[in-house]
Parts: sequence; structure tokens; C-alpha cells
Amino acid sequence: MSGFVFNEKPIQIERGDGAYVYDDGTEYLDMGASYACVPLGHGHPAVQEAVSDQLEKITYVQASYPNAERTALYDLLADTAPDPINKTWLCNSGTEANEAALKFARSATGNSKIVATMQGFHGRTMGALATTWKNKYKKPYEPLIGDVEFVPYDDSEALDEAVDEDTAAFIVEPVQGEGGINPASDGYLEAAREITEDAGAALIFDEVQTGMGRTGALWNSQRADVAPDMITAAKGLGNGLPVGTTLCRDWIAEDYGSHASTFSGGPVISAAAGATVSTVVEDDVPENAAAMGDYLQTELEAAVGDDVRDIRGEGLMIGVEVGRGANAALKELALNHQVLALPAGRTVVRLLPPLTIDESHADAVVDALSEVVG
Ligand SMILES: Cc1ncc(COP(=O)(O)O)c(C=O)c1O
Repeated sequence: MSGFVFNEKPIQIERGDGAYVYDDGTEYLDMGASYACVPLGHGHPAVQEAVSDQLEKITYVQASYPNAERTALYDLLADTAPDPINKTWLCNSGTEANEAALKFARSATGNSKIVATMQGFHGRTMGALATTWKNKYKKPYEPLIGDVEFVPYDDSEALDEAVDEDTAAFIVEPVQGEGGINPASDGYLEAAREITEDAGAALIFDEVQTGMGRTGALWNSQRADVAPDMITAAKGLGNGLPVGTTLCRDWIAEDYGSHASTFSGGPVISAAAGATVSTVVEDDVPENAAAMGDYLQTELEAAVGDDVRDIRGEGLMIGVEVGRGANAALKELALNHQVLALPAGRTVVRLLPPLTIDESHADAVVDALSEVVG
């Protein structure tokens, strides 16, 4: 038997510590944080301890039975989410969080039309996939759910034309990740709030990648000062354990329809997410992400600004648009410089490091990138 979905790389990773992962004797700087899944770095003691303690008590109990770790997580998420968001649905991944958000929006509004953005990415289950832009991901599985209209990202006028009285939701990433690291301009998210509110449609911020402090605030919506109707999150929420969430305002939660999943909010992932969110908040991790993001972008601009097409991003969500295929640059970074990064489309090298990095980690990636693209 063998796996068939992922093309395996020639590096076998068995151990991680902070910003580094290890293949036998070789140390790699993990500037992708395993797809943004370890915002506190690998093996963070607060998360390890919370999970070990919980494993000693009970591994799993279904969400109909209250459990202290889950209840604490509900409270923590309500306390740290932008007001008036105060209800949460827990699941296992980003695509499930979006799938639930789309269902909740349809149920709460009684409408079916979903507006999504070109170049957007929201996951690969059938509903979330229908709101994802790239045809390559969708074509083999069509027909997907209907009634999805795509609008250009960052274009308030096009959004205003698309959102109407039949619209259930507009789903948007506050900074597009997979689509190439595209931050929204000032005013776009505010306009999205106004347009959806006027139409009675739900505004969903997909913060699967931007959440957990990555762009300089726990949630990007707080940085943008816009409170959507739902925020979806996953990736870094459990610092490596599989947990996702759909955070909702009351009017969505009150009329969510009939949704459920066996593995919603188990105590182990609740302990992991609780420890991760508390540590991110208590250690001012978003502040470090903002400061290190500025430092990294400034240093990259100085070192390779003339050799690449663009450097852009928010906080520690940074894209370097190289003048050739990103995959060749990524291979060279990994094999010759022991730096692991990610692609975002064909031409962008994406940096999503742990949010706890310091200047020495940033300098190391700048040096490596200078040699690869300089
Ligand atoms: C913005 C965004 N939404 C949703 C997803 C899907 O999350 P998952 O892979 O956990 O299903 C991703 C994954 O990359 C993402 O970046």
C-alpha cells in the first residue's frame, strides 16, 4: 500500500523543535511552519503539556457531554473574537469550517447564492471547493454546488454589483494566501461589511491562513477593524493538532439548520487549541509577527528587491514573486540551503514561518533567498 495524493519530497522529517525540523542529522529552518500549522513553533511546551495532561484523563468524549477543556475553549474563543461574535462550531479542518459557514449562511438567510473571489481558496470538500477559484482543483469533480458567483478580489464595485437580495454570503480571505499572497487594500473589507449588511447577506472571513496572529492581530478582522458575521479558522489553531472552527454571531447560530460531526470539539484538540490561543495572546505573539514581518520584508527588499518581481504581505504572511518557477527556487532553498518554504501559485515563494521567529531566523532566510534568486 502507498499514498497517492502527495508527491513526497526527498526529506524525511521525524522531529521538530521551535523553528527547525530534522531529517536524521540535517537541520532545516521551517519557514512554512508546515503550511502555517505551528504558529508557536514545533513542540511548544504549553501545548505539549496541555495535550499530555488531557490524554491522561480522557482521549475523547462526544460534544453532547459538556467537558471542561471544550467549555474553556468556547469561552476563550468568545473572549478573544471580535464583538459581537460569541458562538463557535468546532471541527477538524479549514475546509470543514468553511463548509459549515456556507451551510449556516444558507440556513440563516434562507438564500442560496454565494459570492466568492477570483484567486480565492477555501478548501477541497464539495461546497468549499465550489467557492475555490482554480479550475484545476474543481474540473474533475464537477458538477459542484451551483449558485456561486466569482468577483475580482479587492474590487468593491464588482462586489456591490454581485451581492443582491438573493445572496446568502460573501466568503473572502482578508489576505489571499494560496492565490499568491494578495492583501486587501484599505477600505475593501469595510466596503464588504457595508454591502453584505445592506443586502442581509452573511460576511464570512476565511481566516484559516490569516488567523492565530499571523498578520499582526489574533484575527485579521481585528487588524482591519471589521467584524464579519463568521470567521473560519484551522491550520495553526491547535499548533499542529487537527482542529478548525466557525465563529459566529448570534443571528447565524440561532438559525444554523442541522449540522453536526462526530469528532467536533474533542477534549484533546480542545486542550491543544486552548493552550495555543492562550499562549498566542499572553506572549503577544501577534506583535512579534508584525515586527518580524516588517523586518523580514525590509531586509528582503534590500537584499533581493531588484532581482524579484514583487515582495508583499502582511505580518508573517509574505510572498516573494520570483521571475521564474517558484518550485525550482523552493527545491534549491531546501536542498542547498536547508530552508523549507512553500509555493503560492506558480511564481510566488510563500513564507509562513512560526510567529515566534527572531531576527536570526529572518536573516537566514534572506541570505538563502539572495543566493537562490540574486
Ligand atoms: C484560506 C484557506 N481556507 C481554507 C483552507 C483549507 O484548509 P484545510 O486544508 O485544513 O482543509 C486553506 C488551506 O490551505 C486555506 O489556506
